[in-house]
Amino acid sequence: MQLRDNGLRFSPITVMLHWIVAALLFSIIGLAIAISQAADESRQMELTQMQNLLGIFLFLVSIYRFWARVTSYHPLPVGTPNPIEVIISRSVAVALALAMVLLPIAAWLAKSAAGEAIALPGGLALPALVEPNAQLQRVIEILFNVGATAFLAGLALHIFGALKNHLVLKNDSLKRMLGKQVEL
Ligand code: HEM
Repeated sequence: MQLRDNGLRFSPITVMLHWIVAALLFSIIGLAIAISQAADESRQMELTQMQNLLGIFLFLVSIYRFWARVTSYHPLPVGTPNPIEVIISRSVAVALALAMVLLPIAAWLAKSAAGEAIALPGGLALPALVEPNAQLQRVIEILFNVGATAFLAGLALHIFGALKNHLVLKNDSLKRMLGKQVEL
């Protein structure tokens, strides 16, 4: 099995992890909405613990994924795209992969600085990264909000690019990310 991406194709590991990350991210966003609508505190706590657990999986997968992205070739683009679009789309993809590593660290730091535990199912909790510190908490929260906003804008652009390739340009870019072998 091809373990790493090369100039001709993504590896099956990249394809599988790409969609696992997308599913985890959308589940975490869905849980955030469910938490804000939860009727009572115990339900809120249950959902938060589940959200934290998914966040840990996402963080660990993202560390591997960022490393794999920056240490392997990105396959050639399909079709004949304009070089500027290729540079932008690849930079956005790398920035998304990096954000998936940095944002969980910022969230963990902010919770620790607020003196709040990151609770997990089964009564477990992540250890605090720093001592409680209100000033640090404010700074990290601002950085997190700026980073999360930029991340969501980048993700919207990324999905827009994928849909444009699929629906307007009608090339195999999305199908290749779904595992189709594309000859270049
Ligand atoms: C519905 C959601 C998504 C769609 C439709 C989508 C689509 C795609 C497509 C078509 C490619 C291949 C681009 C190429 O041929 O060069 C790609 C690559 C990539 N995408 Fe997404 N994507 C989605 C969500 C995400 C998310 C949530 C992330 C990360 C936060 C992400 C990060 C990346 C990265 C880093 C690459 C480069 C290949 C890799 O290292 O995995 N994508 N995506």
